[in-house]
Amino acid sequence: MKISNIQKIKRMPSKFIFVFSLLVFLSPSISFADGGGNFKAKCSSCHQPHKNGTGPKLFQARQKWSTGGAKEGSIYQWVNNWQTAAANDPYAAGVSKWSATAMNAFPELSKVQIDEILDWVDAQPDPATAGPANGAPVVDVDPASSEEGGNTWLWIILSTMFIIIILSVGGVRRQLKISTGESTPNDNLTYTEEFKAWAWKYRLPVGLGTLVIFLSLIVTLFQGLGRINVVENYQPSQPIAFPHDKHAGVNGIDCKYCHNSVTKSKSAGIPTVNVCMNCHKQINGEGKPYAAEVKKIYSAAGYDPTGSGKYTGNTKPILWNKVHVLPDHVYFNHSQHVVVGGIDCKQCHGDMTKMSEAVKVQPVEELNKIEGNIKLSKPTLTMGWCIECHGAKEVSLGDGKNGYYDEIHRRLRDNDKSLYKKYLKDGKVTVSELGGWECAKCHY
Ligand code: HEC
Ligand code: HEC
Ligand code: HEC
Ligand code: HEC
Ligand code: HEC
Ligand code: HEC
Repeated sequence: MKISNIQKIKRMPSKFIFVFSLLVFLSPSISFADGGGNFKAKCSSCHQPHKNGTGPKLFQARQKWSTGGAKEGSIYQWVNNWQTAAANDPYAAGVSKWSATAMNAFPELSKVQIDEILDWVDAQPDPATAGPANGAPVVDVDPASSEEGGNTWLWIILSTMFIIIILSVGGVRRQLKISTGESTPNDNLTYTEEFKAWAWKYRLPVGLGTLVIFLSLIVTLFQGLGRINVVENYQPSQPIAFPHDKHAGVNGIDCKYCHNSVTKSKSAGIPTVNVCMNCHKQINGEGKPYAAEVKKIYSAAGYDPTGSGKYTGNTKPILWNKVHVLPDHVYFNHSQHVVVGGIDCKQCHGDMTKMSEAVKVQPVEELNKIEGNIKLSKPTLTMGWCIECHGAKEVSLGDGKNGYYDEIHRRLRDNDKSLYKKYLKDGKVTVSELGGWECAKCHY
């Protein structure tokens, strides 16, 4: 009788540890609040938090609907399918007349997900519009980029689970002790003391369990890092409908004509309005459907095409919205990749010569379809994406084509023969082997 009870107690810790580690392993599948990601993927092509575009600005849309007298929950129905909402709710019917463009239906979004999107939108600060003068292009970094990861929830859940388990182990053990007569009910050890004694007694399983928990937390953390801030398909609207295909495609203008610092510096650069004027002073779009767009160039440049054809000096910056945005703590250098690494723009931005609409962050599946691209699997612009390519991309060593590698190659070959052999085992030397996986190379 007594023995079987003690055996029960003995089995307790391993059972708990098993259940707990199982939960930890399953936890990566807990979905995080990802309002920002969903907004960027599904809504940002038409909506911005604080500016009207194809669709109205979404800041505090829920408050607007409820004060405007919309039916309860009608806004969620709207996002799922605006036609149903418009048929059921006169307020929604009114909203649908906002423009001739119809909104898409998103039947896949749950109420919780829609709330996450709208919560995220409401949390975006209104970018104070302090516009610099003198016609310099202003790259308006979208506030969307500074979203925080949803990992907090994971930590809260894990620590709550941990506390509950500690408490219940203590409690169960106390009960069993009492029932087996090993101890008296007024055994006045605290939970901590009790836990310490227990942990010491079963130090092997406890030690192993802690190790498992620790390792799985690290794995979870790194899996999480690869998924946060996914911005694929992010496509902000632009002040001028500038089509890349007409310029870089049909008219064969070299990327570097406009993005002229791409081979020389960290950033590629966005052309100033003067660059547009080099051609558009002549190409005024008269009688063409795009005449209105060219007028915007003129007003930005302070150019008066009628009559005098002079610059008035009254310039306005074109506020291009930045499309590809990395967080501030990441260092990315264009010339290093394009010149030293010899990577084509297509690999990361897709085929811009065929892009007729506003630029967007191409999803990795699209990039993989392009001939000659290295096939990657992690979402574009995430850390996993950078890391994956650095692990796969072979660097051309010592072909005399670029001094940077030739020097590294020489040093490796002459000073570090065993390392060189090790690198060459798989027949190639990758970026990661030369340091492309070191945290400090990419992080300030
Ligand atoms: C294809 C463009 C498009 C996309 C994508 C889009 N919307 Fe809309 N949305 C509109 C338009 C246009 C309106 C204005 C109603 C109209 O004219 O039909 C609107 C209206 C709304 C409104 C009402 C706003 C108000 O001021 O009353 C909400 C809320 C809304 N959209 C949410 C969303 C959410 C959330 C997403 C992403 C899941 C989304 N929309 C994606 C075009 C779009
Ligand atoms: C005639 C000038 C011009 C040429 C040529 C041109 N671009 Fe652009 N590009 C622009 C302008 C203006 C913008 C900003 C507007 C936008 O994002 O749509 C831009 C934006 C971009 C962006 C997005 C920038 C961001 O905010 O993240 C990428 C990527 C890009 N161009 C790549 C290319 C590539 C690749 C080529 C060559 C195949 C090219 N461009 C040729 C003018 C040009
Ligand atoms: C290895 C991937 C990669 C390649 C190759 C690449 N880009 Fe980029 N590009 C990026 C990333 C990442 C950003 C975002 C940079 C940031 O936010 O700091 C970016 C941003 C840009 C921008 C926005 C302005 C800026 O400098 O941030 C333009 C324009 C651009 N790229 C054009 C080009 C052109 C043109 C080429 C080819 C000559 C090219 N890129 C090749 C990854 C790449
Ligand atoms: C090297 C010459 C050149 C430069 C520089 C240039 N463009 Fe153009 N642009 C053209 C040509 C050529 C066309 C096509 C005209 C046509 O198809 O009738 C065009 C067409 C356009 C159109 C209308 C496209 C359409 O069919 O809808 C817009 C908008 C435009 N350009 C904007 C810009 C902007 C903004 C800049 C500066 C960032 C710029 N362009 C720089 C040559 C240039
Ligand atoms: C398509 C492949 C590819 C992608 C995607 C890519 N890189 Fe690279 N990266 C390279 C190559 C090739 C080099 C080699 C150039 C060199 O060593 O200087 C390199 C080198 C670097 C280096 C210098 C490493 C060193 O040893 O000096 C840094 C930093 C870097 N990349 C950052 C990034 C970041 C940040 C991203 C993601 C935003 C990124 N890269 C995405 C291919 C890629
Ligand atoms: C090849 C470039 C590269 C290397 C090497 C790299 N990172 Fe990153 N890291 C990035 C990029 C790019 C992002 C931004 C990803 C995003 O915004 O989705 C990032 C994001 C992060 C974040 C998330 C911060 C945030 O914005 O929420 C952390 C933490 C991080 N990295 C830690 C590390 C550590 C630790 C290492 C070394 C083991 C490392 N990184 C190595 C490119 C790199």
